Amino acid sequence: MIDQKYHYLLNHADIAFEAPTSGAYIEVKDAANGTSLAWVKQHDRASVEHFILRSEQAQAAFKKFTALQRADILMAWYRLMLDHQEDLAQILTAEQGKPLAEARGEIGSAASFIRWFAEQARRIDGDILPSPQAQQRLLVIKQPIGVTAAITPWNFPAAMITRKIAPAIAAGCSMLIKPAEQTPLSAYALQVLAIQAGLPSDVMITLSGDSVAVGKTLCESDIVRKLTFTGSTEVGRILAEQCAPTIKKLSLELGGNAPVIVFDDANIEQAVKGILASKFRNSGQTCVCANRVYIQEGIYDAVAQRVIEEVNKLKVGDGRIEGTTQGPLVDEAAVAKVESHIQDALAKGATLATGGKRLSESNTFFEPTVLTGVTQEMRVAREETFGPLAPLFSFKTEQDAVQMANDTEFGLAAYLFTQNASRQWRVGEALEYGMVGVNTGMISIEVAPFGGIKQSGLGREGSKYGIDDYLEMKYLCVDLSE
Ligand code: SIN
Repeated sequence: MIDQKYHYLLNHADIAFEAPTSGAYIEVKDAANGTSLAWVKQHDRASVEHFILRSEQAQAAFKKFTALQRADILMAWYRLMLDHQEDLAQILTAEQGKPLAEARGEIGSAASFIRWFAEQARRIDGDILPSPQAQQRLLVIKQPIGVTAAITPWNFPAAMITRKIAPAIAAGCSMLIKPAEQTPLSAYALQVLAIQAGLPSDVMITLSGDSVAVGKTLCESDIVRKLTFTGSTEVGRILAEQCAPTIKKLSLELGGNAPVIVFDDANIEQAVKGILASKFRNSGQTCVCANRVYIQEGIYDAVAQRVIEEVNKLKVGDGRIEGTTQGPLVDEAAVAKVESHIQDALAKGATLATGGKRLSESNTFFEPTVLTGVTQEMRVAREETFGPLAPLFSFKTEQDAVQMANDTEFGLAAYLFTQNASRQWRVGEALEYGMVGVNTGMISIEVAPFGGIKQSGLGREGSKYGIDDYLEMKYLCVDLSE
């Protein structure tokens, strides 16, 4: 059971700390040991429809708040999150499994989106257009889109919520949030703090439940004007179909297949640090994780050796234990996918340099793994592994590297390591990705636009652009003739 000292952050009608004897509930399990943490209500279609109406009512009142009032609420929420950073991190690690240091970092990053959009709330301005008609005045104003919905993933149970709801609130929208079934507690804890910060009730509504009852109902609703989703491309496609009849505005942050290109002229230590950071954060379960590491022939052996040395220092275990760097994978299917990518690569000629297996059949901890001699014919070149597997490819020329890196339907994040300034620009511009890290493996930050091209999604989150998806533009044509 989740420690009683965190119950104050989970004080919500949907949460039970003893197994409920009636009603439909989802058991939330400790990611490291599978014990019960709590139970959350399983909302059905009727319940979701009821809350959509409540969200609509709340938004009708909330849109009348001034930008300054909305900004102040967000700023108060940001401060509360930092005041409770440690407890929020403990809840996050319990349900998601990532090491506490990463969970604290995620809470800090989640709060940074709230602060950023508190600042942006006061910068939603419009335009006055020069009119070709002397008697007319032409203006553009921006208004909140209305009721919005978010479907969020288990890999970042806090940051993926605030990255969506902070711009929604800044714009004057309400939001219904369906958190992942594995990690709903962080969502409820954020909501408890949002209410404490002064957010009117029902402007943020958390609805746990399965994707059909909750997700589909949100997508099909006429009242919900926008859906934002982070998750796989496969699910994104289904949601887009479900949203099509109501022509909902969509933001989709979907799968990736991130290449890392290390050129002969790279600083090797910088490249190794970048590969480790990008590949093994959250045990390889981020959509911007390095999925393919391309190393130029001249330094292949040197980089491979250093990557293997550093990977051998990683420590797998319960995220609450000091020194752990790698938590569990989300479920059996995730373990099976990593195993299948390893088996496929080995069968086609790759070499296992380190790792390669789960720690035990009774849990989902997996050894950080490095494969060398990987080629474009192997499944790891095409599919996102979403686990702690670093496949090392080699390449001859810059042109080959760019061609192989772009040879995918995905276009989320890419990374390159080189000391050559003109190559940094040339390759950075040639890579068909929404985000490119140059000499770094860490690119997520609230001030920059996060999102992908091709089948990696639609729209951008964070940055000055992130609020646009929550606003409608209205053109006013004022004729002054009497
Ligand atoms: C994600 O995996 O969806 C987000 C990762 C990040 O913000 O760095």
